[in-house]
Amino acid sequence: MNKIAIIGLGYVGLPLAYEFSKVHDCTGYDISKKRIRELKKGIDKTEEYSKENILDSKLLFTNKEEELFGKDFYIITVPTPLKKNNKPDLSPLKLASKTVGKHISKGSIIIYESTVYPGCTEEDCIPILEKYSNLKFNKDFFCGYSPERINPGDKKRKLKDIIKVVSGSNKKTTNSVNKLYKSIIKAGTHIAPSIRVAEASKIIENVQRDVNISLVNEFALIFEKLNIDTKEVLDAAATKWNFLNFKPGLVGGHCIGVDPYYLAYKAVEKGYSPKVLLNGRKVNNSIPKRIVKSIVKMSNELNINIESSKILILGITFKENCSDFRNSRVIDLVKELKKITQNIFIHDTYVDKVELKKELKIELIEKIKNKYDIVILAVSHDNYLKIDFNKILKKNHILYDVKSVLPKNISTLRL
Ligand SMILES: NC(=O)c1ccc[n+]([C@@H]2O[C@H](COP(=O)([O-])OP(=O)(O)OC[C@H]3O[C@@H](n4cnc5c(N)ncnc54)[C@H](O)[C@@H]3O)[C@@H](O)[C@H]2O)c1
Repeated sequence: MNKIAIIGLGYVGLPLAYEFSKVHDCTGYDISKKRIRELKKGIDKTEEYSKENILDSKLLFTNKEEELFGKDFYIITVPTPLKKNNKPDLSPLKLASKTVGKHISKGSIIIYESTVYPGCTEEDCIPILEKYSNLKFNKDFFCGYSPERINPGDKKRKLKDIIKVVSGSNKKTTNSVNKLYKSIIKAGTHIAPSIRVAEASKIIENVQRDVNISLVNEFALIFEKLNIDTKEVLDAAATKWNFLNFKPGLVGGHCIGVDPYYLAYKAVEKGYSPKVLLNGRKVNNSIPKRIVKSIVKMSNELNINIESSKILILGITFKENCSDFRNSRVIDLVKELKKITQNIFIHDTYVDKVELKKELKIELIEKIKNKYDIVILAVSHDNYLKIDFNKILKKNHILYDVKSVLPKNISTLRL
């Protein structure tokens, strides 16, 4: 049994801490007092765990730094967001490294799980650990990197079911990191030959997804001009064995929409200006505007006065069946629509209403009760697929199915 501290108890850190607490002595540390207060009461705002799950676990929750002394492993799972200029914002990672650096001792192993560009652990984080610990890297303390691949809201593929890439700063550390993860990951591990390889492997998984979705989004932009239904084209093409099954849509969140900028930043720093990465981002970022443009065009055709019509948006999160609204492109959609009308009603049962209002000044409606002129199914939460749209739509209406999940005959528009 090892003594482990998890630093940052969000979508990544909590599941990790939860699983480790089943077999090891595990402390969960978070800088947010609110998060710790809630977790101590069994409340998980990420909705990954029930009250009973949390209260029955052996996990210890704290925001007291001093409880970080004397651990064998420190696992850092803090956010890696972007600055306003789309450059990496490493401040949470650097602060977490400082906090950990102050509490490690000889023999400690520090593992980073946050998604970063290749080289970040060694160039940006380890010097901070050395500075605040007064210890020497790879002599007194050791490091690892093990990227996280969980998919919040996914009930089938949980943490222990996904192969974990592991790496370490030397052979012995790699073995220790591997053994540690093998104690909780049923699917097994893949040992990467270096920390940089492990860092790069994670970032390209997300960049690849972003670029692939941008390609089908571009198809959708072209097919709209050609008056062809994108889903029907994709369904036909998908019958070939090597056609990749990506769907058009809004690509937000703090992973897929962020990571291309991290890789591009490092590429430019090293003298290579990426040609594909950021163009994919541009296409994906243009989709909210394009949805609004199509709605305006269709409302003119159907004689719907968009300024006086009632618009319902279903879903505000960055993806289905999840409560996370950070970097959701639906927010851009709302902003675009607000340039035309204020008659916008937003519904999402997954989201913490108070937090959404505090962070984005967006109010949610409790119940869908009135009839609307325009309904945009922006996020395909399971509960929205059961809606009888005839009951909530006026006779002359637009139903925009952003994710192409509804039968074609009931939707007016889809991507
Ligand atoms: N959410 C995902 O689906 C997912 C999947 C794979 C990888 N990742 C990556 O994992 C990392 C964490 O993502 P997340 O979604 O769990 O973030 P999150 O925002 O849900 O959680 C991060 C937690 O860290 C805490 N925190 C911030 N700074 C801290 C500090 N200095 N010390 C202690 N706690 C601190 C925050 O209060 C928060 O509770 C990111 O790099 C992300 O890109 C996320």
